[in-house]
Parts: sequence; C-alpha cells; structure tokens
Amino acid sequence: KKYLTTEAFGQEIRYFESCDSTQFIAHELAQEGAQDGTVVVAEEQLTGKGRMARPWDSKAYKGIWMSVITRPHLTPQQAPQMTLVAAVAITRAIEEVTGLTPQIKWPNDLLINEKKVTGILTELQADPDLIKSIILGIGINVNQSIDEFPEELMSIATSLKIELGKTINRAELIATTLKYLEEYTKLYEAHGFSPIKLLWESYSNTIGRRIRATMVNQTVEGLAIGITEEGMLELKQDDGTIFGVYSGDIEFRK
Ligand code: BTN
Repeated sequence: KKYLTTEAFGQEIRYFESCDSTQFIAHELAQEGAQDGTVVVAEEQLTGKGRMARPWDSKAYKGIWMSVITRPHLTPQQAPQMTLVAAVAITRAIEEVTGLTPQIKWPNDLLINEKKVTGILTELQADPDLIKSIILGIGINVNQSIDEFPEELMSIATSLKIELGKTINRAELIATTLKYLEEYTKLYEAHGFSPIKLLWESYSNTIGRRIRATMVNQTVEGLAIGITEEGMLELKQDDGTIFGVYSGDIEFRK
C-alpha cells in the first residue's frame, strides 16, 4: 500500500502466502459482493490457471499473481475490450517501472524479445445481457531466472529480471499496474474504446503480420489488419474477405 496512488483499485487487498488460484478466490469474493477494484494477490499458486484451461506456473516469491475484480457497465459482448484495457495498462506499468517496453500479441500476451512475460485471463460473472463483474487474472513473470522455468517453457517464456539483469520491486510494479488499470478503465468509460484501441495498436506486434488463428472449431489464416471497435482481431484472407477473430490463439506465419 506504500506505493498505491489509486482511488478504488487495490484499496481492498486480500493477500495470501499460498493458495490454489487467486482467480477462484476472486470469483467467490465477487459473488459475495466485493467492491469494485478488490485485488487478490498470492506469493504462490498451487494450481494457477492460464487461458484455454492450461496450467500457469506460479512459483513462490518470483512473480505477480493477482486477480482484480472490476464492475464496469458493459455488455458481455464488450468484455474482450476490458482484456485489451488490461494489456495496455500492464504494458505501461512495466514500461514505467523497468524502462522495458513489452509488445502485445493479440489478444493479451505481453512479450519481450518475442518471449512471454505476462498473461491475462479474463473471466466474467454475467447475465445474458449484463456483466456483473469481470475478474482480470494477471500473471507477470518478474524475478525468475531462466532455470526456474519448467523445461517446456524455457524457450518461450522470460521474466523482467532476465531481460533487465536486475531484481524488480514487485510491490511497486503491482501499485503501478493498478494505477494504470484504474486510469485506462476510466478513460475507456469516459471516451469509449477508441483511445484504448490506439494505445493497443501502438504496442502491438500483431498488426501487419501474417497470422494463423486457431479457434474452437476452425482455423483461419490471413494478414492482421487491425482490431475492431469490439476488440476483435481482423484478418484479411487471401481471397480478400475480412474475418473477425473474437477469441482464440494466434501464431505468426512467414
Ligand atoms: C494466460 O494463459 O496467458 C493467462 C495467465 C493468467 C495467470 C494469472 S496468475 C493470477 C491469476 N490466477 C490464476 O490462476 N491465473 C491468473
């Protein structure tokens, strides 16, 4: 709290030495009516969750493993936009604290030197036409050295410490992340998605590249030409048709 400058985000913090997943705890708290901006943070997660039901490696004392409960006035269709708000906010925070500028790989992986440094998992509690809360799960690899990653991640993951060559103050980075999350959420609520879209595109490494997108039941290839007002990735296919990718995984092609 020493570093915290926000009005709402992080004013209520639940801290755990060890837990299964901050995401599970945040869901429970949201259900019980936790206030907007409540943060759950843990030193270690025993069953950290990634996107697409993948595990998320969450070693003790090395990273930032946190979930933020937000209650924006949005429809479920607008939820992907909040993920992009978070991606931009974390990018700005990492830039301010370390001087390194991550690039955003759609939708929300932050990469440094093409390796993943941060993942974001967005989950909703919603009725068909109304979001009750969005749980933003944020995992930042901060102070791991390369041999502390499981072998299968060594070639694709990195940490801020590896890239910068020195240890980073996690409390300061958490506070700075919450500052930008609050700032960009307000910007988004006041002025819509356009300013966020511009920021996102300026940090993206995805626009202008040839992409293969794998979705639940289909695969599409094309040139990434932008993101839409809804936060979808637009691909121009070889026959000229435009395809909007709402969620899924992408891979860069030659
Ligand atoms: C991804 O697959 O890229 C998303 C990773 C999200 C990890 C974070 S760590 C804090 C929160 N709790 C979890 O179990 N997962 C998210």
